[in-house]
Amino acid sequence: MQRLPPEFWRVYMQIYDLGVATLWPYRKLIDTVLELSEVQSGDTVIDAGCGTGNLIARIAVGMECGKVIGLDWQPVALDFARAKMLQGRREVRSEFLTCDLDNEHWSAALPLADVVFSVNALYALGDPGGFLRIARGVLKPEGRLVLVNPFQPDLDAIQCSHDIWLSEEATQEDRVKYAEVAWATKVARAFNDVIAEAVGRKQLHFWQQERLADELNAAGFTVQSMHQVYAGTSLLAVALK
Ligand SMILES: C[S@@+](CC[C@H](N)C(=O)[O-])C[C@H]1O[C@@H](n2cnc3c(N)ncnc32)[C@H](O)[C@@H]1O
Repeated sequence: MQRLPPEFWRVYMQIYDLGVATLWPYRKLIDTVLELSEVQSGDTVIDAGCGTGNLIARIAVGMECGKVIGLDWQPVALDFARAKMLQGRREVRSEFLTCDLDNEHWSAALPLADVVFSVNALYALGDPGGFLRIARGVLKPEGRLVLVNPFQPDLDAIQCSHDIWLSEEATQEDRVKYAEVAWATKVARAFNDVIAEAVGRKQLHFWQQERLADELNAAGFTVQSMHQVYAGTSLLAVALK
């Protein structure tokens, strides 16, 4: 993989938070993920590929105790995530670790978790099957994996989710909001293209439902539910250890 500089990632993360993460499709996705996870106060939670920490910041708001751990290989993403945890009142303990999820030892220093999340990161991994096996290993006996992964053959899931939302559900207020941040979503799309080139497009894993179920089973999980989210562009699976 071609190495992209930290400056690239810093701008990308900023643009991502300004554009994509402020819009309804992403906020709805995070709500759905959270709802299906059944996370409870006091749980230990890991978000693998946490990016700028939007899911963790959201989880932490409702938790009175427990621990949330965000993992990402981009230190600049974790800077954004840490900053979010400093805003508002957060009782929960948090930790953000720079970590390559393709490294077979990524879970070595982590406590056992009640829930492992991974939202839109699996497709980018070199060995997603290996990641799933390790994720199962870091879960407590009754633990759950909550996984989101796009299943389209390219990285246009974000744009598609916006297009579908704009044509089917968006209110007038949503449209005004979208018009304000449309530039950022376009720039994010261009950045995604650069990332896909750097990784090598053929190395990305946009699994269909059957393949995702097979890979989860092969890693030792029992699939509890699987359905389409993000305006029908991605799969959300809940799998039990
Ligand atoms: C599309 S972003 C999603 C971020 C976040 N989960 C969200 O929903 O906003 C994918 C994330 O996966 C991270 N990622 C990709 N490959 C990784 C790897 N090998 N190890 C750790 N993180 C990785 C990227 O740095 C990025 O933050």
